Amino acid sequence: MKIIKNKIKLSDFNTFRTGGNARFFCKVKNEDELREAIKFAKEKRLKFFVIGNGSNLLLSDKNFNGLVIRNFISGKKIELKGKNHSIISAGSGEYIDNLINFLVNNNLSGIENLWNIPGTVGAGVVQNIGAYGVELKDYIYSVEGIDTRNLKQCKFNNNDCKFGYRESIFRKNKNLIITKVFLKLNNSFKPNLKYSALKEYFLVRKTPTIGEVIKTIKKIRKNKLPDWEKLGTAGSFFKNPIITKVKYQKLLKKYPNLPKYSAGKGLVKIPLGFVIDKICEMKGLRVGQVGLYEKQSLVVINYGGAKFSEINNFAKMIERKVYEKIKIKIEREVENIY
Ligand code: EPU
Repeated sequence: MKIIKNKIKLSDFNTFRTGGNARFFCKVKNEDELREAIKFAKEKRLKFFVIGNGSNLLLSDKNFNGLVIRNFISGKKIELKGKNHSIISAGSGEYIDNLINFLVNNNLSGIENLWNIPGTVGAGVVQNIGAYGVELKDYIYSVEGIDTRNLKQCKFNNNDCKFGYRESIFRKNKNLIITKVFLKLNNSFKPNLKYSALKEYFLVRKTPTIGEVIKTIKKIRKNKLPDWEKLGTAGSFFKNPIITKVKYQKLLKKYPNLPKYSAGKGLVKIPLGFVIDKICEMKGLRVGQVGLYEKQSLVVINYGGAKFSEINNFAKMIERKVYEKIKIKIEREVENIY
């Protein structure tokens, strides 16, 4: 593993394309290299952080006077083949689409609805990614990582990870770096079509193949979400708010079309995209080089060269407007790292 001491432009390592220079930078391919990198930072008393594909980050434009570790920990393996389920392992630096491809080739299913999310497996666990009726947490068997305080390996079963909506212990405790993820998948394919946008595609053909589901998700995402290669974005910028059913009933009187999803006892989740678009009427709002994506109001776009402060101020303005309109304090899904 080589530590690069030249200034590295962090804007090249995240999909929002903000960020200053990192003083030190390295790529790690396995757990030992990760340990080595952390040791280097500790010996030099440097701050450090680990990134994957950088698709859920909003980085400050300040230079980072520490070490940035880019995770390329790879590997995919079928660990155990049972009668109905199999356990597979994946390196935390593997891209989610590569993992899904591997699963499809081995006739394993469960997480195919997460197709086309531009992130790594480790980051997917950190924020418990979800799309089209599937959340990664429902397929996680266990997680292996390194505790940066003592460089020891640590293991977590599903419960230990304290998963919630875009939440996990790893999002709160930055001392834990995920290295390997074990998933429990189905040996036979049963399409998960409960999400309405997906259901609509299969009204006639009710039993699609896994390939057809993946192709359809790609199509739906292409119609709704921006092309990450062309525009700076981190996908959904905010979380969908979870509110009480009582509060929802009150809102419903004023906004009779407001959709809802179940979110546990006495609670519902409401789509903030709908709120921003139809209630606050801010669809496509743009200030300078920052704006809301025309086709999906939950997505903030860097149209080119926007600074961290511009994006941050734009987001604060959205947060304020939503509060003024419906008295809900919204939370961000993207992470500020430093
Ligand atoms: N809607 C609008 N206007 C908009 C956007 C949405 O009216 O501008 C309405 C839609 O018509 C629909 C509802 O809001 O009735 C929900 O919209 P959508 O199905 O697009 O999903 P979402 O709740 O906005 C969530 C995830 C996405 C994920 C989709 C599909 C969060 C924060 N976002 O978005 O995840 O792809 O569901 O499952 O939970 C991400 O996390 O980066 C992400 C893209």
